[in-house]
Amino acid sequence: MKKLLTGIQSSGTLHVGNYFGALKPFAEMCGDYESTLMVADYHALTSLKDASAIRSNIINVVKDYIAVGIDPAKVTIFKQSDVPEHTELAWIFDCLVSVPFLMQAHSYKDKVAKGLEANAGLFTYPMLMAADILLYDTDVVPVGADQRQHVEYAREAAVKFNVAFGDTFKEPQEKIVEAIATVPGTDGKKMSKSYGNTIPLFGTKDEIAKAVMSIVTDSTGDRPENVHAIHKHFRNGADLESLYTTHAGKYKNLKEALIEDIEAIVAPMREVRDAITDDDVRNILREGAARARSRASAKMQLVRERVGVTI
Ligand code: TRP
Repeated sequence: MKKLLTGIQSSGTLHVGNYFGALKPFAEMCGDYESTLMVADYHALTSLKDASAIRSNIINVVKDYIAVGIDPAKVTIFKQSDVPEHTELAWIFDCLVSVPFLMQAHSYKDKVAKGLEANAGLFTYPMLMAADILLYDTDVVPVGADQRQHVEYAREAAVKFNVAFGDTFKEPQEKIVEAIATVPGTDGKKMSKSYGNTIPLFGTKDEIAKAVMSIVTDSTGDRPENVHAIHKHFRNGADLESLYTTHAGKYKNLKEALIEDIEAIVAPMREVRDAITDDDVRNILREGAARARSRASAKMQLVRERVGVTI
């Protein structure tokens, strides 16, 4: 089986748009590969200096991914900081790439363009990410389109190392996660936290109901388009159309039906999520780290030999 690895940072409070746009397509892909999911906690440190936020983000993101269907018995889930080989290999890559090359990274350039001061960790971020990927002979890296360049950097790191020290690393390929669907928010624009138009994924039924009731409708026509546009992700076509015909013009009934349909999909996931304790997460990460470490340490032993520090 081909190997898949991806890294995740805190996803914040997930909404229905994140689910259809990122988590669901990722969960569906995992079964086709030998899959590894890494919590990029040291990457998070490039922007977040708040120990309790880092801690709770780690725990929450693991719960989120398990709740949407990632099975820790099948997918290795670990956190970056538990496998020191990542930062060790990143250093070696730092010594192989030039400063101008790193200066071309969008993540760095964007920060500078905004007039923000980039720390050195943010500057070398792509080499830590290259280490994450290359340590495990990864074939496929599912990421959002914004991360495409980072996977190119990983390939470049692999090539630079292989040229300097002999064939050691496989060149990985990005797989841009195609949103199963872009879900509109309660105002009809793309659902996004920054627009304040979200329906929470793991909210209580009341919170979901409140968001649905706030969907903007105009009173022309029989069909509240903004409700329908969200609803179509939760109920199949024929069923959906007959519902909207039966309740033509009855916006409140249609919103109530949407709440029930969201609940039918979300309730089982919420139940799974609520049942996972922080200690469960710790155990999952501990087991994942043991598996990841045995692979990473074997690879690093080879790397150390190749660069000449093993005598
Ligand atoms: N940079 C990625 C992001 O912000 C997270 C990440 C870290 C990652 N290491 C990775 C993704 C390795 C894929 C593979 O989304």
